[in-house]
Amino acid sequence: MNKIRCFVALTKGQVNRSLYANLSTSSVAQKRYIPRRAVLYVPGSDERKLKKIPSLSADCIVMDCEDGVALSKKTEARNLIRHVLDTGMIDFTGKDCSVRFNSVDSGLCEEDMQTVLSAKVLPSTVHLPKVESGDQLQWFNEKFTSALGNQEIGEKIRLIMFIESAQALINLPEICKKAVELSKTSRFDVDGLVFGSDDFCADIGATRTSSAEELLYARQYLVTVAKAFRLQAVDLVYIDYKDLEGLKVQSEEGCRMGFTGKQVIHPGQVTIVQKAYSPSEEKVAWANELVKAFEEHQKEGKGAFTFRGHMIDMPLLLQAKNIIEMVSKVKC
Ligand code: COA
Ligand code: MG
Repeated sequence: MNKIRCFVALTKGQVNRSLYANLSTSSVAQKRYIPRRAVLYVPGSDERKLKKIPSLSADCIVMDCEDGVALSKKTEARNLIRHVLDTGMIDFTGKDCSVRFNSVDSGLCEEDMQTVLSAKVLPSTVHLPKVESGDQLQWFNEKFTSALGNQEIGEKIRLIMFIESAQALINLPEICKKAVELSKTSRFDVDGLVFGSDDFCADIGATRTSSAEELLYARQYLVTVAKAFRLQAVDLVYIDYKDLEGLKVQSEEGCRMGFTGKQVIHPGQVTIVQKAYSPSEEKVAWANELVKAFEEHQKEGKGAFTFRGHMIDMPLLLQAKNIIEMVSKVKC
């Protein structure tokens, strides 16, 4: 039986995986692009919050089995998520529907996968926390494959990995390489990295500050490695969820650094984050005009040309096209 899947309501046009900062090249296999500007956690054990999902405008909704759920509620959370998926009681139209499992080392991950991945409706994405090594991914792949059994799933389920310790950061290229390699034959397809800042701070003994200066190196490194493997990069949570000005500053900073989105914990954070991770009206106008000018020059058989005083070459054209694609695929 073909499984129904929760997908973002996008057209089928194939675009580059990451936002406009990540340029597509002909050598990179392209796949359906799923925007994840705001990645919102909804505790899997909290039915009241789960029922709010249709009214939430975050690009990506993560029904959480992990740290947003008390240890005593783990079974309840995974069963409730399964119920949500089986009954279709929640409409995910226009959103990336994801589930965050518990980590490989937690002893809970296999049961999470068995419960969630045998549901009538499968999530379009899964989040795997606290990834530390390629060996863990090998284990994850085996259990993931076994939990899916021989169901037909259509498009592969996207995998997002959390990096939240010193060991994980050191092993990051190896982890990404392994995930990309496994994606070639597995029924998951790695799509992004998330920076788990609070666990990372605890691991390295850093103290969180509002400027997050103690995390600068880790954030820059994570973005760099993510982009080297053509993955999305999702920035840290701004935990002081009532401070919207601070959230705006940090979201704009993350976007400038190359992140493609940000984790959020409260519905009140979504609009600010999605705005920060969307190109400005001026940038969109620039992109549209540039593409038009390019096409006109192509017709006349001209290659490089000058636009608004700048020489335009292929990377700038691709950047402009990515902006146009991205804007066409997000709601607000
Ligand atoms: N998902 C869906 N709805 C949410 C939500 C979330 N993450 N956070 C808050 N809401 C809802 C609340 O239920 C409330 O609606 P209600 O009044 O009809 O019940 C409304 O939004 C306003 O919420 P508010 O009263 O301001 O906050 P709260 O005290 O209910 O919840 C938190 C605050 C931080 C506990 C909550 O936002 C939360 O659980 N966030 C996720 C935390 C998490 O997953 N952490 C792990 C990942 S880092
Ligand atoms: Mg964490």
